[in-house]
Amino acid sequence: MNNLNHIAIIMDGNGRWAKERNLPRTMGHKKGVEKVREIAIYANKLGVKCLTLYAFSTENWKRPETEVNYLMSLPKVFFKSYLKEIMENNIVIRMVGDMERIPSEAREIFESAIEQTKNNTGMVLNFAMNYGGQNEIVKAALKFANDYKEGKKDSLDEESFKDYLYTAGLPDVDLMIRTSNEQRISNFLLYQLAYSEFIFTDTYWPDFSCEDLDKCIEEFNHRTRRFGGLNETKNN
Ligand code: FPP
Repeated sequence: MNNLNHIAIIMDGNGRWAKERNLPRTMGHKKGVEKVREIAIYANKLGVKCLTLYAFSTENWKRPETEVNYLMSLPKVFFKSYLKEIMENNIVIRMVGDMERIPSEAREIFESAIEQTKNNTGMVLNFAMNYGGQNEIVKAALKFANDYKEGKKDSLDEESFKDYLYTAGLPDVDLMIRTSNEQRISNFLLYQLAYSEFIFTDTYWPDFSCEDLDKCIEEFNHRTRRFGGLNETKNN
């Protein structure tokens, strides 16, 4: 067993994986979708409570239209192929991000998957779609300001602010993994990563395996988390 309530992954390197094989970038994303299935089913079996995957950032709109359209078609590909297996594995689907700009077909597919899996009791598989951490914090601040103005809330602290984030109700992120050897957080879960352990791996996302996840968890288990204090908290 492990102490991992929440793993978050920046699934990077799809384009480079495809380029190295003389394939179009979209083939890297296609392979990436298969990896989402494999890693999600495995993480659920390991007892991870929540897995958040960065599927589309607020900055990804800058990509060529054909690639953006392809990325927006992936929810359909994913749920058409794997929703049955997600149900059999008792996984709950959630989504975080700014839904308004997501094309209606992709949004409806997500909403339907969220509805169908809402009574499951296994791992939460949380997709970050049109997600940006700064955007999330600003929206949360505006929501609180509105509640304050309407007299619904009169105080705010670090803990209660979490209720205004897209991730309300989800556990804090213990481990953030980024594939493909890029060492940045790229506007991902800025508030939620405050005390997370970070692991940057060389592997491109389409090559990331269950064994790679095991290795990350093993490394996490050897880290000592102090949360700013002096008491050493080993993870295993
Ligand atoms: C980054 O690689 C990856 C993305 C922007 C998209 C990731 C999405 C998936 C793996 C599938 C999501 C699945 C669902 C169901 C929505 P990159 O293109 O930036 O790679 P590069 O840095 O090598 O160019």
